[in-house]
Amino acid sequence: MKDKISKIVSLAKRRGFIFPSSEIYGGFESSYDFGPLGVEMKRNLKQLWWSEMIKNHDDIVGLDAAILMNPKVWQASGHLTAGFADTLVECKECHKRFKKEEIKNGSCPECGGKITKPRRFNLMMKTFAGPVQEKAATTYLRAETCQGIYMNFENVLNSARMKLPFGICQIGKAFRNEINPKNFIFRTREFEQMEMQWFCHPKTADKWFEFWKKERIRWYKDLGMKKENLRSKEIPAKERAHYAKKQVDIEYRFPFASPAGRRGWGEIEGIHNRGDWDLSNHSKHSGKDLRYFDEETKEKYFPHIIETSIGVERSIFAFLIDSYQEIKGGRTKTTKSTKEVEILLKLDKRIAPIKVAILPLIRNKPELVKIAKEVYKMLKPHFVCQYDEVGSIGRRYRRQDEVGTILCLTCDFQTLEDNTLTIRDRDTMKQKRVKIKDLVKALKEQLEN
Ligand code: GAP
Repeated sequence: MKDKISKIVSLAKRRGFIFPSSEIYGGFESSYDFGPLGVEMKRNLKQLWWSEMIKNHDDIVGLDAAILMNPKVWQASGHLTAGFADTLVECKECHKRFKKEEIKNGSCPECGGKITKPRRFNLMMKTFAGPVQEKAATTYLRAETCQGIYMNFENVLNSARMKLPFGICQIGKAFRNEINPKNFIFRTREFEQMEMQWFCHPKTADKWFEFWKKERIRWYKDLGMKKENLRSKEIPAKERAHYAKKQVDIEYRFPFASPAGRRGWGEIEGIHNRGDWDLSNHSKHSGKDLRYFDEETKEKYFPHIIETSIGVERSIFAFLIDSYQEIKGGRTKTTKSTKEVEILLKLDKRIAPIKVAILPLIRNKPELVKIAKEVYKMLKPHFVCQYDEVGSIGRRYRRQDEVGTILCLTCDFQTLEDNTLTIRDRDTMKQKRVKIKDLVKALKEQLEN
């Protein structure tokens, strides 16, 4: 299982999904960069989530709030106090650090050495706003994007003339000074979140919690995540985030032990009933009354908040693992004889980074290359495409399968006669001939259905 992770990490680097950050300087712990394919996949996932929230719901609007905020936000939200801290222990022998809950039998999980007494460690990332550090104000890189949403609750309510219940969603970077970042992009210090805050009447909060839990699980299944690798888990009171009255984690079965020791299962999204924790605390600390006034019932109250919060990188990681397949002996009869292992990344059409690859059958036939390049130019404005002429056609199909490309177009000798080319489907490997002039329509049909 561990082997599967190293294979995915290696594929991710080799094919341009994810690179270690600042690698020429030896890297930087827990920082990763998304390469040409990774960035397309990330954009697709974010776009899919955004459409799900904004296009599929009349009562959700978007926001893009600043990362740097008045530090009082974090005082009021409870993130500067004990609520947002991990308990750290250190091995007295190998000096590795662990979260307290990672220690199972009182000794270091790596070398078995004795460990130090636990210490509380706040996760907020401190920084300074202003040129001269000593005089500048200390502030923080946001630890969750939703605080920017609460800061704008009233602005959105008034400017967009919203009525309860309604949601505000946002995608953006978050930062946590994690004690023990690990497992590739599973736990890093810088990551991106996609969060939706649903503001509702307190009496309806339980109903909405159930609604959003179901909606969010449906989303992963709809994007092809395997049922058996997905589950929801209610988090007991003592393990919940400090703001949560109720918490259900959507978990994916990762091929490594999760931080909380629940073997294999790791959180990809949290569904939280935050009650009035945020709006009432911000009202108290800022002096601004953030209660909602219902014109019809004349009732004034703090809306309760149901939150859905995904980590972009974590879900990308889960989708990569879920779609990764090794086919022993190859996918076709010709390759079977060589007993090769072929890799197939069976990503959903909407998530896959490359939609169409254009391949001339051979590269030393200038007429074929010319047509293939013209087709590439014609398709590029419509789809994320790749042109590849290097190596045998079988090898090129395998290269595209390995990164999940949905369709491969091949210009062959028949193309020169009748202006048709073949479209090969990644999953069935079936091919059909289509006229070049009908390509855009045919590809759209195949990619959208
Ligand atoms: N606003 C609520 C909130 O931030 P969370 O459960 O702490 O809730 C939500 O985080 C999601 O953000 C997690 O389910 C996970 O996918 C992602 N996440 C949290 N910490 C992370 C980290 N250090 N590295 C990568 N992703 C992280």
